[in-house]
Amino acid sequence: MKLKYKPEELTKLPRSVEYRDKKVYLIDQRLLPREFKVISLSTVEQVAKAIKTMQVRGAPAIGAAAAFGLALYAERSRAETKDEFFNGFYRAYEILKNTRPTAVNLFWALNRIKKLVEEHREDSLAEIKRLIVREAQKIADEDVEANLRMGHIGAEILPEGNVLTHCNAGSLATVHLGTVGAVLRVMHKEGKLNLLWVDETRPVLQGARLSAWEYHYDGIPLKLIADNMAGFVMQQGKVDAIIVGADRIVANGDFANKIGTYTLAVLAKEHGIPFFTVAPLSTIDMSLKSGEEIPIEERSREEVLTCGGCKIAPDVDVYNPAFDITPHKYLTAVITDKGVVYPPFERNLKKLF
Ligand code: MRU
Repeated sequence: MKLKYKPEELTKLPRSVEYRDKKVYLIDQRLLPREFKVISLSTVEQVAKAIKTMQVRGAPAIGAAAAFGLALYAERSRAETKDEFFNGFYRAYEILKNTRPTAVNLFWALNRIKKLVEEHREDSLAEIKRLIVREAQKIADEDVEANLRMGHIGAEILPEGNVLTHCNAGSLATVHLGTVGAVLRVMHKEGKLNLLWVDETRPVLQGARLSAWEYHYDGIPLKLIADNMAGFVMQQGKVDAIIVGADRIVANGDFANKIGTYTLAVLAKEHGIPFFTVAPLSTIDMSLKSGEEIPIEERSREEVLTCGGCKIAPDVDVYNPAFDITPHKYLTAVITDKGVVYPPFERNLKKLF
């Protein structure tokens, strides 16, 4: 497919995750929309904390940040022997791995670098360090390319009109452009996007704080709604398609995404609205057969008991799963950087690999 647009023609935003001069640079997503601030991190522990506390979040952005965390280790390690270096490498790998459990991109990126390092065990220390940094940068650059492709592919198959999205799978959630973000940006560029409905996405408000901010910044016409309004908007015939990102898509097409995605998928079916997920191959985990096997992160009770730092409920017990599983029967198609996958997913997802 011919790619009509370059990233800089689709967004005014800079990359969300970058690496230079032995530092990881991130747009601090906890501060948006009040403040746009790029922070710099210089230790593996700082990167792990940024992932845990969601200063960087969104499956591909987490993957790239973790890869850069390993680059940071490589360039800053003072190990004098290879054994010492490898011990430190595995420690860094474990610290980064134990941050968030659901998005498979984290493990995909860390394992890609670990595999490379192990294949080059016999090379010089200087060469191994160089390879780690180069691979981390490749992971980030490939993410941007994949998003650009998905944007063009997705914009061709989504119907023209009003689109609804949940959470943030935009530029902030990736290295640049977004998965959903790229599709919406290409649609907007081509005059195919009439209106974007943005779910606020309680409890962390990635829709209100991040999606509304970044799409508005790029001039995409949107309306923000509270999560419980989505069904009514669909019933009123004001949604032509729903598109969401994914944290992990498994072999049968079931997928994990931000809590509330499943609710939307069921409502979409009831209202005959096509329902898409869009994700790069790094989000597809063929080692799991069905969605029930995906580990679902549970986050702190404070996220539910508060809103914007204010207490909104008494000190009661809370259940706070960060993701849910959407069974593949609700999916119209999976848009990937290698093309569109339609049902039967079990058979067709395999063809991508
Ligand atoms: O908890 P988050 O904000 O990291 O969850 C993000 C999502 O669920 C996104 O939809 C998903 O990671 C896809 S991002 C391109």
